[in-house]
Amino acid sequence: MQGFKTLLYNKRNAIAHIVLNRPEVLNAYNIQMRDDLWEALLAVRDDPEVGALVLSGAGERAFCAGADLTEFGTAPSRVIAREVRWQRDVWGLFLSIGKPLIAALHGYVLGSGLEMALCCDIRIASEDAQFGLPETSLGMIPAAGGTQTLPRVIKQGKALEMLLTSARIDAGEAYRIGLVNRVVPKAGLMEEAAKTAKRIFSHHPGLVGLAKGALYQGLDVSLDEGLAMERRYAAFAISLGLFREARM
Ligand code: COA
Repeated sequence: MQGFKTLLYNKRNAIAHIVLNRPEVLNAYNIQMRDDLWEALLAVRDDPEVGALVLSGAGERAFCAGADLTEFGTAPSRVIAREVRWQRDVWGLFLSIGKPLIAALHGYVLGSGLEMALCCDIRIASEDAQFGLPETSLGMIPAAGGTQTLPRVIKQGKALEMLLTSARIDAGEAYRIGLVNRVVPKAGLMEEAAKTAKRIFSHHPGLVGLAKGALYQGLDVSLDEGLAMERRYAAFAISLGLFREARM
């Protein structure tokens, strides 16, 4: 798949690589990037040759410095802006993909950049990464899922601190509070992300989808409901016949 204005997309060894590609503005997320991501994520979801996604940012300085501030207030009308957001719910699309989504994070990871990373399953950071939600200091609040996804990844108190203070944290602090799974030297970031993706999709895609679904859906229901759901998913997993095959 070729021809995106704001992204690079390619497939290597069953891994789809999406690279946010506006390095001159620190990969700021604009309307064109939303439209491009929508198409690229549909390809990740629907292409049977794709086992996992690695999402990263081009250039030395940033994964993504948040929403493009030059586009604020430029929509023709609020109604049209809302309608397009519903039609192209990129954040919902991220969360609906049953394949492993790995974010490889370097430099600035701010605002919707961080929210995009929170829509992924595993976050790997390089040592230079800095994280923050500047929205409240800019007169708004996060609107790419951050108020919901952040407290599902880190503890509520830390999530509130990041949300309310807009303070940036470095990679070490991000690791300590569980925002990222691990921190690696910058030179090894992409290799580590690809290794993690490969390790996951060496398992049957059906099992990966079931395990992801059980965990995420379980976060939104009572423990009893979650356990009942897990029993159903586990029975379905057994019915795939993979367990027996793996023992033989
Ligand atoms: N939207 C649009 N352009 C952005 C941008 C954004 N979110 N973030 C950075 N850029 C642009 C800058 O305008 C600059 O463009 P220019 O060279 O044409 O002037 C270029 O990217 C480099 O950024 P610059 O500010 O010069 O780098 P810096 O090292 O001095 O500061 C940041 C880096 C990330 C601290 C700073 O760019 C920043 O605060 N960006 C905004 C972050 C933000 O608030 N995001 C929105 C969240 S809702």
